[in-house]
Amino acid sequence: MHKKIFSGVQPTGNLHLGNYLGAIKNFVNLQNDPNNNCIYCVVDLHAITVKQNPNELKKNIRETTAAFIASGLDYKKSIIFNQSLVSAHSEGSWIFSCVARMGWLNRMTQFKEKAGKDKEKASVGLYIYPILMAADILLYDATHVPVGEDQKQHLELSRDIANKFNLDFNSPDFLIAPEPLIQKNFARIMSLKDGMKKMSKSDPSELSRINLNDSSDQISNKIKKAKTDIKPLPDNEKELSGRPEAENLLGIYSSLSDQTLDKTIIEFSGKNFSEFKQKLASLVVEKIAPISYEINKLLKDVKFLDKVLNDGSEKANQIAQKKIENMKKIVGF
Ligand code: AMP
Ligand code: TRP
Repeated sequence: MHKKIFSGVQPTGNLHLGNYLGAIKNFVNLQNDPNNNCIYCVVDLHAITVKQNPNELKKNIRETTAAFIASGLDYKKSIIFNQSLVSAHSEGSWIFSCVARMGWLNRMTQFKEKAGKDKEKASVGLYIYPILMAADILLYDATHVPVGEDQKQHLELSRDIANKFNLDFNSPDFLIAPEPLIQKNFARIMSLKDGMKKMSKSDPSELSRINLNDSSDQISNKIKKAKTDIKPLPDNEKELSGRPEAENLLGIYSSLSDQTLDKTIIEFSGKNFSEFKQKLASLVVEKIAPISYEINKLLKDVKFLDKVLNDGSEKANQIAQKKIENMKKIVGF
């Protein structure tokens, strides 16, 4: 079957190893299957649901684009664009705001996490963030959406919106309910400083994550300082229970070397962390340093990056504009 793939990443700071292994690496694999049509979006409208510095935002939009290309996305094979250049996303989002129910949004755990204790002070945009995400996906008739595990609930909401719109407006099959594509293994990369917390852009500790634009020295240093426990590495998967840091580091090694966790465990069973960390550091450097080099090179060519986004946005606009026009007709405008 021909798959239509859509995914987005927020331009809100350095992309890290979690973004790469949980999402972007998958984007590249999907792109390289000739049966797929892929669209990848730098979701700047989503970024402003929390306060952004305008100059930083502009820089981060280019940096995310550079990270896409440096990781292997090819603007000749995939559409790469930024959301704010295609007005249908905002328009679709409004129509879907009138389809989605308050009760659905009130269940969204990401809002609860991001808004924290002081919900009254969160932006309304942060609350309706998943509706904009539904517009992103549904405007392109995407059939499959590669995301990290944390986005599964938002994908369910997109499906609910598609189904309710089709039902409410008696337009069966007009909107396509998308399937999430979530990696089965290593779907969640954890912080290097706390195996129970997700590796995240917003963690105040730089040592908690490996950024895609870190230098080889920074990478090695962060792996060296990564939290571990005092036991040697186990000889079977069961013994990893209750050892989140060991599990995470072995998972990173497995994911980067495209091998099963079992195989990695056998490779390092009984070894101590210092020996394993040396191997891990050289593997991460081998895989990430070329991406880092390429990001920094691309960032010097702002014109090129802007052209990729502008050209991509033109192509995206052609698709999205048609869909929103049909949607408006169906709604009765
Ligand atoms: P974000 O940085 O929140 O825009 O996320 C971009 C993509 O990376 C989404 O598909 C996330 O699910 C994924 N992602 C973010 N952090 C992690 C992580 N620690 N492990 C795995 N995937 C992640
Ligand atoms: N919400 C996603 C995240 O934080 C980003 C995103 C926005 C997205 N629109 C999307 C992902 C559409 C997939 C499809 O990671």
